[in-house]
Amino acid sequence: MIHTKIYVVKNPDEMGVKAADLFEDVIQSKPACVIGLATGSTPLPLYRELIAREKAGRIDFTNVRSANLDEYKGLAPDHPQSYRKFMQDNLFDHIAIKPENTIVPDGLAEDVASMCCNYEAQIEKWGGVDLQLLGIGHDGHIGFNEPEDYFPGMTHEVKLTEMTIDANKRFFDSIDDVPKSAITMGIGTIMAAKKIVMVVTGADKKDILHKTFWGPVTPEVPASILQFHPDVTLICDEAAYPL
Ligand code: PGA
Repeated sequence: MIHTKIYVVKNPDEMGVKAADLFEDVIQSKPACVIGLATGSTPLPLYRELIAREKAGRIDFTNVRSANLDEYKGLAPDHPQSYRKFMQDNLFDHIAIKPENTIVPDGLAEDVASMCCNYEAQIEKWGGVDLQLLGIGHDGHIGFNEPEDYFPGMTHEVKLTEMTIDANKRFFDSIDDVPKSAITMGIGTIMAAKKIVMVVTGADKKDILHKTFWGPVTPEVPASILQFHPDVTLICDEAAYPL
């Protein structure tokens, strides 16, 4: 909590505006910056706002590089539920970012370990993530770093918890279609970002948000590690704000 800046906004649309301000600042001060991106329902108002700001000439994504947090294992990039497809549909296809400047872990990689190393190496080659966007899962996951008895370091493969599979079944025809594992940036990868912005909306996230920033730092609540990051901004709506 020592370093966390907190903005409590009225609703998801205001969250999108406030979070877009942070991205606009970073992109304006460094046009070839590296942004870390996230999927899920929560970031959608932000992505809509970023698209609108580029159309209005406020932001230019031409030289921006992006690295996504995670991808389902076994889903091809054009699978309707893949996170690559989500990013194309909700952001990349609507802005000037160059396809070769967007990376998402490869859900079909045969050699997962070397794909993960290459992912880390690409981020490092770009000079590291300037601003990392995070949502939060009901179990406290960031990316797909699920509760564990340790904080995983690098990009790696994870088994998803029942809670995560259940939360994500809304996007699939049935719960059996939800992949059981994923590839995710590690906690170390996330913590290496220069700045982090976490977006949280909805009353169902209130309890986990309380544990994350006002509870003990523990790998049982992976997001709690953010208390130790020097530059975190939390943007949550009134429904999610726990105090
Ligand atoms: P959500 O997902 O934004 O769809 O709630 C967040 C997450 O699981 O990180």
